[in-house]
Order: sequence, then structure tokens, then C-alpha cells
Amino acid sequence: MQKLPMRNKSRSCCAKCCLGTFLYILVLFLLLFVIFFVIVPVVFKYSVGIQRNLIFPTWVIPQQNYSDIEAYGIKGVKNFYVNVGKEDNVTLGVWHILPFEILSEIIDNDDYNYEGVLENADYNIMLYLHGNGNDRAAALELYEILRKHFQIVAVDYRGYADSSKATMNETGIVGDIVELYKWLRKKSQSRIFVWGHSLGSGVATHLISDLKNDNISTSGVVLETPFTSVTDVMKSHPVLKVYSFMPWFSLTITDPIVYNDLNFNSASYILDVDSPIMMLHAKDDEIIEYRFATELFNVAVNNRNYTYQGNVTYHLFEALDYGHMNIYKAPELPNYVSEFIEECDKFERKKKV
Ligand SMILES: *[C@@H]1O[C@H](CO)[C@@H](O)[C@H](O)[C@H]1NC(C)=O
Ligand SMILES: *[C@@H]1O[C@H](CO)[C@@H](O)[C@H](O)[C@H]1NC(C)=O
Ligand SMILES: *[C@@H]1O[C@H](CO)[C@@H](O)[C@H](O)[C@H]1NC(C)=O
Ligand SMILES: *[C@@H]1O[C@H](CO)[C@@H](O)[C@H](O)[C@H]1NC(C)=O
Ligand SMILES: *[C@@H]1O[C@H](CO)[C@@H](O)[C@H](O)[C@H]1NC(C)=O
Ligand SMILES: *[C@@H]1O[C@H](CO)[C@@H](O)[C@H](O)[C@H]1NC(C)=O
Repeated sequence: MQKLPMRNKSRSCCAKCCLGTFLYILVLFLLLFVIFFVIVPVVFKYSVGIQRNLIFPTWVIPQQNYSDIEAYGIKGVKNFYVNVGKEDNVTLGVWHILPFEILSEIIDNDDYNYEGVLENADYNIMLYLHGNGNDRAAALELYEILRKHFQIVAVDYRGYADSSKATMNETGIVGDIVELYKWLRKKSQSRIFVWGHSLGSGVATHLISDLKNDNISTSGVVLETPFTSVTDVMKSHPVLKVYSFMPWFSLTITDPIVYNDLNFNSASYILDVDSPIMMLHAKDDEIIEYRFATELFNVAVNNRNYTYQGNVTYHLFEALDYGHMNIYKAPELPNYVSEFIEECDKFERKKKV
């Protein structure tokens, strides 16, 4: 009986201890919660710099000399610059890649009449628009496939590689490419096709929509690993998914992407594409899951009129290690490209009658 008070004393001491630890942990959790789920999203919302660095990670591209063509192990390429100017005074770095059939005529890479080829309407042009972590030298293997059918014009967006630094947003980037397209059109009567990879697919659909407003049409567009919109992809990103339960998720994470002009809403611009479309995606693409391409395909099929806007073809590759960057490795790709050109030819003939 005498022991009881003592026991009681020790018990209350332990309870105090537990309560202290509990409070300590609670405060720690609250603090972490506030940091990760309040401060981080709020900083993100108000920092357009962070958003731009996320969408346009230009810093991953190593500095290089794009004039030193030999260093890339490719032949028949000329590096040059086009001032797409206006108020931002932007100059874009461009590669002109000659079609395969005249490669054998080239002895010295620099010493060839590139301008003459560009102006020669016999050679169809493919305008290549790269992804957000790439530059105009990133698709060398694909160029070897495409140059069997095209002369290729590959361009770096503002802020990328040795193109001018300027405000990075969708309006600025697409506006530059619209000017480049018009510059090309002035030089050449060739048919012009567009190939956009990843973020470049978003640039491509917006470009074509803007050109449509000026009554300019393209002959065909290929969307490699495309998406519906940047915010759609962000919502499913493994890191951002952790945040998606927050009631303020859209207010702090996705809305700012839209009002800072970074959303690249292909699901809307694709409706303005008045030429056949080919879409390519791989099931093991972990950067942009293929369901976004499937969704974009469905939007296009259900809302475009293929009779006068052209068919949409969707090639979804099995999980064969092509991922986000290596669709050029697919043995079927050259055939798909040939078939697509035939489809575009057929569409053009149909339009004429
Ligand atoms: C880049 O390469 C070209 C061609 O090889 C060369 O003429 C030029 O001097 C190089 N520029 C720089 C900055 O190294
Ligand atoms: C545009 O930029 C170039 C250099 O890239 C410069 O030489 C030229 O003076 C600039 N023009 C204007 C109007 O700012
Ligand atoms: C996008 O960039 C252009 C400059 O090219 C600028 O005038 C415009 O205000 C920017 N838009 C937004 C929403 O930041
Ligand atoms: C485009 O064509 C339409 C119909 O022919 C015409 O009304 C419009 O003014 C043209 N727009 C431009 C920018 O040329
Ligand atoms: C598509 O356009 C054609 C020609 O203008 C028209 O005959 C056809 O009904 C349209 N199809 C749909 C599904 O709207
Ligand atoms: C478009 O697809 C339809 C249906 O598969 C096909 O009959 C047609 O030949 C294709 N091409 C054109 C240019 O209509």
C-alpha cells in the first residue's frame, strides 16, 4: 500500500515525458508541413523564374560550338543564324541539313551551295522543333532517317544553345518560330512539314494555329511524345502528385503555369491543324506517359474534321526501351515516315480537286 503513491508519481512523470515528446513531434510535423505544403507552393506560385527553369531547363545543355559540324560526326550541315527580330531582337541558331541524295556531292562541308538547296522546291523541308532539355544537335540519328525524304531545318528556341537570351514563355518562343517559318516560306516554295518532339510538339501545334490565322498552311505535322498540356503532365508527376491533395494545389502550382504563359495547350491548338498528323509515343515513356498522347489523339479524332483537315495516325510502340528519347531506334519508324508522306500527298491531291 505504501508503494502506491510512488508508483503514481513515476507514472505521471512518464505521462509528462510522453506528452512532451508528443508535442515536440507534433510541432516538428507542423513545421515540416508548413515548409513543404505552404511555403514551397507559395514560393513556387510567386517565382516565375523557378517555373521557367522547370519548363525550360536550358542549363542542362553543355556549351558547344555549333559551327564545328565535323565534331558532331555529321556531313552536309550548315550552321547559321536568323534574326526573327521585332521588339525582342531575337537571333535563332539554325542548322540546315541537306537531303541524303546530294550528300555524295559534298567534299568540303562548308563549301557547298546550301542556299541553292533551300530555294530548290524539289526538296521538301522538315522544320525540326526539339524538346525542353535538348538543342538542335540532339536528334542526329533521327536526322539520318528524315534526310532520306527531306532537307531539315533544326532550330534552337530563344534562350537555348547559342540563340539569343530573351523572356522565355510560350508567346515569345512560338512567335519566334512563326517568324522563322515565314522567313523560310519567303526563301523557298518547297512544301514545309513540322516535326515536334516533346515540348516541341506543343510549339508545333501552337505554331500551326498561329500560321492558320495568317492563312498559311503546313503540309504535315509529326508529334513525337506529345502531351495535352504542361499542367496535365505536372498533375501526374510523381513529385508533384504528393502535393495534389492540397486544396490550394491548382492555385499555387498549376494556375501560375497558365497565367505565366507556360502551358503549351496542344489539346486546344491541335484543332487548328489543317493537315495530316502523325503521333508517335512509347509505352515505357516515363517523362510523358503515353496516356497524354492517347488523350490528345482522342481530342483530335473527335473534334477535327478529317475530310478537310486530314487524318490522324497514332503509332504507340510497345515497351521496348524507346522511352522518351529513343523512338528513332524503332525499326518501323522509316516505314511510318514514308507512309505519312504518302498520306500527306494523298491529302494534298484530294484538296486540289
Ligand atoms: C567554331 O568552329 C568553327 C569551325 O570549326 C571555327 O572556325 C570557329 O573558330 C570555332 N569557334 C570557336 C569560338 O571556337
Ligand atoms: C540586335 O542584336 C544584335 C546582336 O545580336 C545587335 O547587333 C543589334 O544592334 C541589335 N538591334 C537592335 C535594334 O537592338
Ligand atoms: C511573354 O514574353 C513576352 C516577351 O516576348 C512578354 O512581352 C510577355 O509579357 C510575356 N508574357 C507573360 C505572361 O509573362
Ligand atoms: C485569310 O483569309 C480569309 C478568307 O479568305 C480573309 O478573310 C482574311 O483576311 C485572311 N487573313 C489574312 C491575315 O490574310
Ligand atoms: C466534314 O466536312 C465535310 C466537308 O465540309 C462535311 O461534308 C462533313 O459533313 C463534315 N463532317 C463532320 C463530321 O462534321
Ligand atoms: C484517311 O483515312 C481514311 C480512313 O481510314 C482513308 O480512307 C483515307 O484514304 C485516308 N486519307 C485521306 C487523305 O483521306
